[in-house]
Amino acid sequence: MYELLRPLLFSADPEKAHERVLGWLEIFGDSARGRKIISRVAGKDSTSQIRAMGLTFEHPLGMAAGFDKDARVLPALFALNFSYVEIGTVTPRPQPGNPKPRMWRFPEAHALVNAMGFPGEGMLAVKKRLISLRERELLTRPVGINIGKNATTPLENAGDDYQSVLRELFDFGDYFVVNVSSPNTPGLRTLQQADSLRALLSPLMEITKNMKPLLLKVAPDLADEDLVTAASVVRELGMAGMVCANTSIRR
Ligand SMILES: Cc1cc2nc3c(=O)[nH]c(=O)nc-3n(C[C@H](O)[C@H](O)[C@H](O)COP(=O)(O)O)c2cc1C
Repeated sequence: MYELLRPLLFSADPEKAHERVLGWLEIFGDSARGRKIISRVAGKDSTSQIRAMGLTFEHPLGMAAGFDKDARVLPALFALNFSYVEIGTVTPRPQPGNPKPRMWRFPEAHALVNAMGFPGEGMLAVKKRLISLRERELLTRPVGINIGKNATTPLENAGDDYQSVLRELFDFGDYFVVNVSSPNTPGLRTLQQADSLRALLSPLMEITKNMKPLLLKVAPDLADEDLVTAASVVRELGMAGMVCANTSIRR
């Protein structure tokens, strides 16, 4: 299916193509019939179930954060047989992200370069969708919620943003990911330093009360010693693990 659609998608600007696919998935995912069609195209379940963090994953392949930032297409992605979906990055308030164009294809390198800057509808819009999906019993597989700060929130108040999103969406995620590693929000990655990390993560762990897994998403560009430091803080605070890794700033 992808082979068939690829020339059509590649004839459009990358972000427009992404929007177009989200639009299709939204329409198909909204009806039982549409979901059945998607499932048929996607094929059968594999049988390599994984248990981790108290959750069951049907197989190892899920959808990473950034594809469905605002929880628009969860039913379609589950019908496509992703074993989990990580929505987000979700910020407290809606924001437009960086100016366009902000996504470029490099087909010869099988690569995409992005500088999105967390465009999104904000946590309340996401919550509304999750409430509706839950009422319709469409949250059939694990949903991760990736949380971040608004671009206009000063770095010293970043903690408030992460705490707001975690509190607001706590009932709806099966696990949560603290995103301090996207390269497109100025200053964000400095939160990966040991002292900033501890100050940021401790209050978040208090909110979870160990009831749901909280993970830290790190940049692939960290120096080895910084990666070790981040891992030690994750351990020290009793977090569930790390998501490795975010978008690189290297080409
Ligand atoms: C267009 C695009 C948008 C992304 N948006 C987010 C995001 O909002 N939050 C996040 O944590 N990661 C985001 N990512 C990173 C992915 O979740 C994933 O960590 C990364 O793409 C994996 O690295 P790779 O693409 O080099 O394999 C985004 C990636 C792309 C390509």
